[in-house]
Amino acid sequence: MKNTLLIVLVSMLAFTACNQPKPVKTIENLKEGIIGETTASVKYEAFAEKALEEGYDTIANLFYAASKAESIHAANHRKVLEDLGEKMDDFKPEFEVKTTAENLQAAIDGESYEVSTMYAKFLEDAKTEKVDKATKSFTWASDTEKKHLEFYKEALAALNANAENTLPYEYAVCPVCGNTYEKDNMDAKCAFCQTSSDKYIMIK
Ligand SMILES: [Fe+2]
Ligand SMILES: [Fe+2]
Repeated sequence: MKNTLLIVLVSMLAFTACNQPKPVKTIENLKEGIIGETTASVKYEAFAEKALEEGYDTIANLFYAASKAESIHAANHRKVLEDLGEKMDDFKPEFEVKTTAENLQAAIDGESYEVSTMYAKFLEDAKTEKVDKATKSFTWASDTEKKHLEFYKEALAALNANAENTLPYEYAVCPVCGNTYEKDNMDAKCAFCQTSSDKYIMIK
């Protein structure tokens, strides 16, 4: 009798778990976010190489730092997606490499879109669907993109004024959340996730 009761109870629990509504919007958003972040990462690496080719070492390092940050965002989103029992399909990142001035403008446009439109919507959906891990991953990415946006604007202004050699040369990237610092402006603990600065990935 006891065994029968136990079996009924376990079956009921399993049935309930299987019938939890899936956070469908957040799952789609995580997939879109992984594509966006992965594409940004390989695109910025290509932009860094172009900047080196054009003799802009400072701007190359900014692109390398941002590329590293975006790869961390992609990995974080992927982990959340897998925790939800979902898998990412294969995809091919698509982007164009132009001159460094044009690449900076493309980066500014991309980061602006992510901050004002894409992550704003993803965060709203994740909060509505109560997926806390997605809210955290989207917040870390969005807050980082806001910083990238400012760095890119400064870099483009410097480039247009022939003053790119006055830009910072070294950057630090938090390995947990992707937060990106100019080396001379680092926090002892990451402002987004509290990781200690001795763990930062240095780009120089
Ligand atoms: Fe970014
Ligand atoms: Fe962090």
